Amino acid sequence: MKKYNIITYGCQMNEHDSENIAGMLDSMNYIYTDNPLEADLVVMNTCSIREHADKRFFGMLGQFKNIKKNNRDFILCICGCMPQQDRIVEEIKNSFSWVDIIFGTHTIGEFPNLLKKRLETGKKQISIVGDSSKICTFENTRRLFKHKALVNITYGCNNFCTYCIVPYTRGREKSRSLDDVVREIKSLSEDGVIEVTLLGQNVNSFKDINGNDFSDLIREVNKIDRIKRIRFMTSHPKDISDNLIECYRDCEKLCKHIHLPVQSGNNEILRRMNRHYDVDRYKEIILKLRKVCPDIAISTDIIVGFPGESDDEFKDTLDLIKEVQFDSAFTFIYSPRPGTPAADFDNQIPDKIKHERFDRLTEIVNESSLRKNKMLENKIVPVLVDGKSKRNNKMWTGRSEDFKLINFFSKRENLTGEIVPVLIDEAKTFSLDGREDIS
Ligand code: 5AD
Ligand code: SF4
Repeated sequence: MKKYNIITYGCQMNEHDSENIAGMLDSMNYIYTDNPLEADLVVMNTCSIREHADKRFFGMLGQFKNIKKNNRDFILCICGCMPQQDRIVEEIKNSFSWVDIIFGTHTIGEFPNLLKKRLETGKKQISIVGDSSKICTFENTRRLFKHKALVNITYGCNNFCTYCIVPYTRGREKSRSLDDVVREIKSLSEDGVIEVTLLGQNVNSFKDINGNDFSDLIREVNKIDRIKRIRFMTSHPKDISDNLIECYRDCEKLCKHIHLPVQSGNNEILRRMNRHYDVDRYKEIILKLRKVCPDIAISTDIIVGFPGESDDEFKDTLDLIKEVQFDSAFTFIYSPRPGTPAADFDNQIPDKIKHERFDRLTEIVNESSLRKNKMLENKIVPVLVDGKSKRNNKMWTGRSEDFKLINFFSKRENLTGEIVPVLIDEAKTFSLDGREDIS
């Protein structure tokens, strides 16, 4: 039996695509191995969001040259966002001749055929351009977890934030139909799934052919018996509606957490990012969310060193973070992406200043995360257990409803997939430690 491995970079959309690709390989009688070096076939599912991702990818690609040299039957496949850019496909074709199959984000469904053709003819197979208006769903997904699942609800993005490559790689936004999504989640729930994460680049703009919006979808998923937790990723502040905010009041299964990328705390920068909201509107949304759901956890994304960002404009971002008190934030150094408008803006910020700002930002974000986490000390929180902790195999690990990473001790075994009450002993910046509450 041939073995396969998939290396996944980037976001949860890619993670889910990899689960689908794994399902296809399982159906073709390949066997999964977690070691790419002992695999007969490796799929690299790539990300283009920042330059760092490009560098890691090309570094890894180089390493497969020797494997191919020693094993001529070894098959290397590249997919995801990178091949959606012509310049990258050219570079792979010219400099990395040992790549066997290249497919894109709209041609995932063609992968089994491309693989068959590669095996029959021994020739390189490339298929990037697919029908981007068609929505493909897949059977036989190989889920990473039995108890939780990622579910695509929208594909692509129409927002064209000036720094972002995604609208060019993932194409125009499309929504699945509410009925289709609900059918999939019902079937997942029958298969043991109790937590679903609804996925899209911009889930709040979900609108299906029958006029159902995102809040309608959440309300329908909330009715599915065996589902206990609903999450979603990612929201755009410009599309947060009062209807959605009210779901936090009405839908008991909707987890008390929202990831709401703000990107900057300065109006001029937000305008030049093409974000379509200002700082006051962002703060108004946070106030409304906290009014309806006082202990909602709020996480965000922030970019530092956007072209032309002055020190005062950067300080506005620090002020916003201090004021909002996020539970956590993903912080990014602006990375020019060829083909996006901001890459051609004047006044690109020197690396040294970007790094200095990044360090100042991280310090304040971390202070805020620790302060928020400390509020959970000595409290009992329900944790959906993902498995044994990788850091300490005597501990279990999982997520609280507000998406905090919780590591804990328990006297019991086989807790994966259970919701366990955990007494929090110690809060740290990125996780919390505790023990199962048996009182
Ligand atoms: N440079 C830095 N960060 C970026 N992001 C997207 N594009 C870029 C870029 N060119 C960040 C945004 C987005 C997150 C997924 O990645 O903060 O919300
Ligand atoms: Fe990129 Fe903006 Fe679309 Fe998010 S909303 S994927 S940041 S263009």
